Amino acid sequence: MSSATATGGHLLGGRTADVRVERLTKRYTSGGDDVVAMADVTLHVASGEFVAVVGASGCGKSTLLRVLAGFERASGGVVEVGGAAVTAPGPDRGVVFQDYGLFPWLSVRENVAYGPARKGLPRAETRRIADEFIAAVGLERFAAKYPGQLSGGMQQRVAIARVLANDPSLLLMDEPFGALDALTRSGLQAELRRIHRETGTTVVFVTHSIEEAVYLADRVVVMAGGASHGVPGHVRAVVPVDLAERDVTSPGFNAVERRITALVHEPVGRG
Ligand SMILES: Nc1ncnc2c1ncn2[C@@H]1O[C@H](COP(=O)(O)OP(=O)(O)O)[C@@H](O)[C@H]1O
Ligand SMILES: [Mg+2]
Repeated sequence: MSSATATGGHLLGGRTADVRVERLTKRYTSGGDDVVAMADVTLHVASGEFVAVVGASGCGKSTLLRVLAGFERASGGVVEVGGAAVTAPGPDRGVVFQDYGLFPWLSVRENVAYGPARKGLPRAETRRIADEFIAAVGLERFAAKYPGQLSGGMQQRVAIARVLANDPSLLLMDEPFGALDALTRSGLQAELRRIHRETGTTVVFVTHSIEEAVYLADRVVVMAGGASHGVPGHVRAVVPVDLAERDVTSPGFNAVERRITALVHEPVGRG
């Protein structure tokens, strides 16, 4: 596996921020109807922590992420990243979606250099940063290729490198590996764990896969509810993953997985 430590152990970065979500409510108005997608969501994420968010479809996982990204405004409550209220998207927050979102007309290197170049960094510095993060995701040999010439897993690696090149203090990921086959997916999970260790960036990671959540996260947030349940989306439980080793076949791992599975499938009360 490629190693960022080859560059001297200092992957760019080290920027990291805490997240404070307090009694967050999000309403949507669609077709004249007011839908409360999410109510009373409180979540604190420490600087450098990796938090995964799981829960049935429609419980508000993506909405929470979009509010943190600043793509959508909260209808009520407090949303702060690094102590600053979130009101709009910003370069301090990097977002990775399922569909890579690369510029198809730019090479891998140009895609990854896009953010640093926009910041107005000198060309040589931009190139150095791009190459550093391309190496961090193991794509040195593909820097001159175009997204269409790469597999899905490789494109998602480029998307991750591109976001990291912006030196975000918070990484927001919405089912980033959802479109990948199982083998590619587990490779990227291992890579993301390593990258998280090396950058120390705070991560909020939405996934359908409980195994993925337990493998990656320090804590797993279980959300429930949603419009189709007649109850706004909310946080049902937060489960710490106190495992030294993340061996998906170990009894300890399976115990945490079972506990979270039970929480996800618990019926939604109408209280
Ligand atoms: N732009 C929108 N307009 C109206 N309702 C929306 C919009 N986006 C999401 N919702 C509703 O908000 C709820 C939460 O959606 P979402 O955050 O996408 O859930 P999840 O990601 O957990 O599947 C759902 O009931 C969904 O229908
Ligand atoms: Mg979603």
